[in-house]
Amino acid sequence: MKSIRTILLLLAMSVSLTACGKESVPNNESPPPGMSSTKPEQKTIPSENSNILIAYFSVPEDVDTTGADAVAGASVVVSEGEKLGNTQYVAQLIQQTTGGDLFRIETTQVYPGDHDPLVEQAAKEQDADARPELATQIDNFDQYEIVLLGYPNWWGDMPQPLYTFLEEYDFGAKTMIPFITHGGSGASRTVETISELQPGALIRDNALILSRNDVAASAGEVTDWAEGLHLNRKNEEKRR
Ligand SMILES: Cc1cc2nc3c(=O)[nH]c(=O)nc-3n(C[C@H](O)[C@H](O)[C@H](O)COP(=O)(O)O)c2cc1C
Repeated sequence: MKSIRTILLLLAMSVSLTACGKESVPNNESPPPGMSSTKPEQKTIPSENSNILIAYFSVPEDVDTTGADAVAGASVVVSEGEKLGNTQYVAQLIQQTTGGDLFRIETTQVYPGDHDPLVEQAAKEQDADARPELATQIDNFDQYEIVLLGYPNWWGDMPQPLYTFLEEYDFGAKTMIPFITHGGSGASRTVETISELQPGALIRDNALILSRNDVAASAGEVTDWAEGLHLNRKNEEKRR
């Protein structure tokens, strides 16, 4: 198993990190510079009447975006002057279309904004099968019937905080719709992993899978995809 994972990891690394133009291979055991242990405030989302939750994890990289709408090959989009992670940007577009409640999955240990320490930290967490502690909580989880779950592909898998999230909440019979951004590997096996972790949930098979190179210009595609889910129609029918 271990050797298969190592081969997959190496394949994912060569696809994604070559595409990024970053070749760093994590091998340093010391804590990465820029890794902070500052605890962000506990955050909960306001309780609204929506039955749609858009939960996402995203780490905008700390790159110079002066005068740019998007930085090719980096995990960042500039939208109306604000620097957003790719998945964060997509989550906001989905929220605008579906009107669901937006929830950012955050960890108590803040990830480094610089690329090399970030990939190093992510690799170490994956090797350790870590469950990073979450700093954000959903108090009113029961009210949601549909969960759109967004995350970047990290080393051919979900970021480890997604494992914490999926193990912390019981999705029961909720409908889950993943949306993934990536640097060339697509969704890898992540959708299958979600259904293994949440066997009771209905995982819709029309996940949105977006290359980071397309994220900045993806508003039309994301909106069409979100409208095509007919989530609002379902809600309107329920309210009648
Ligand atoms: C730690 C790390 C590992 C990554 N590993 C992969 C990978 O294995 N395959 C891939 O296609 N992209 C990989 N990428 C690229 C990200 O999936 C891509 O940049 C994504 O859009 C980042 O989303 P975010 O800005 O919302 O965090 C990796 C990026 C990071 C930071």
